[in-house]
Amino acid sequence: MHILTLETSCDETAAAVVTDRLEVLGAVVASQDKLHERFRGVVPEIAARAHVERILPVIDETLRRAGRTLREMDAIAVANTPGLAGSLLVGLVAAKTLCLALNKPLVAVNHLYAHIYACKIASGRDVFPCVGLIVSGGHSSLYHCVNSFEFRPLGGTIDDAAGEAFDKVASMLGLPYPGGPAISGVAESGDPQAYRFPRALLQDDDRLDFSFSGLKTAVRYQIAGPGRPDFRALELAPQTVADLAASFQEAVVDCLAGKTMLAVRKTGLTTVCVGGGVAANRRLRARLQQEAERAGVELLIAPPSLCTDNAVMGGIAMERFQAGLIEDLDLDVYPGVVRP
Ligand code: KG4
Ligand code: ZN
Repeated sequence: MHILTLETSCDETAAAVVTDRLEVLGAVVASQDKLHERFRGVVPEIAARAHVERILPVIDETLRRAGRTLREMDAIAVANTPGLAGSLLVGLVAAKTLCLALNKPLVAVNHLYAHIYACKIASGRDVFPCVGLIVSGGHSSLYHCVNSFEFRPLGGTIDDAAGEAFDKVASMLGLPYPGGPAISGVAESGDPQAYRFPRALLQDDDRLDFSFSGLKTAVRYQIAGPGRPDFRALELAPQTVADLAASFQEAVVDCLAGKTMLAVRKTGLTTVCVGGGVAANRRLRARLQQEAERAGVELLIAPPSLCTDNAVMGGIAMERFQAGLIEDLDLDVYPGVVRP
């Protein structure tokens, strides 16, 4: 069996052909980073328009790489939640149109669940039940993932997402967009102990939540310093930028790793899966590995190419399709996180 999955929830236009044995026959990701770079963040209207231009060539190229035709697909799947409304709509309309024209079933994909499912596709192992940490530009959430259909929320950010904090701090430091890879790159030559930034909520063992806006503000004040409010005008020495980046990254990693291990202790689960763009971060990966070994739990993090947005992770739709979970063609987009 074959499924064509589409992903347009944010600023990547992606498609993949995945089989019922979770083999990836073809996959394409068209990144829009260049379009959003000068705004140092995703501009929703630009993202939606770019998806319109790219979706059909991306589908064509995916099928060409897979060596399959549209008619050979058993179903069409699409991420319809959560994400940017205009972006999600482009993928959904493309998927519905294909379903209508080819008389194929439509399968819905939850983008956050799919980020965790990337760990299953990459490892080829059954990863459920597990603690799932999803850290991306829009989300920082912890789930008790019972199976691929049932994700119970354990906690999440109460303000900025981790990736959003990376992007905004990168902008303050004069680093390019997307900020995550840029910060992680310069942090390699920085001292993570140079500045002691806050780790909000980390000491609170009753909560599995994150908060990164205070950390972001602390970096801002550190750059500006007393009596220097116009921090943008400052020329920072490269070593200062590296030290600020490394210290900021360390604070984020402490919070993410700390709360993930708290979730392990609270749930008693012995597997941890991590997905989303920030899961590509080398320091976070190394730190989670260390902590997982110490706690004796299995850790699965998808390879970096399956951490940032892609359609391969939409292979989660194969399980829904096989379970008969087919959508009507009046399916809508749900930009916010849908609570189960
Ligand atoms: O999952 P994703 O591709 O899109 C969303 O669903 O948001 O995540 C994008 C986010 C951006 O904020 C980007 O800065 C961050 O992931 N990111 C990273 C790294 N690579 C991407 N953050 C930290 N370190 C990285 N290496
Ligand atoms: Zn994502």
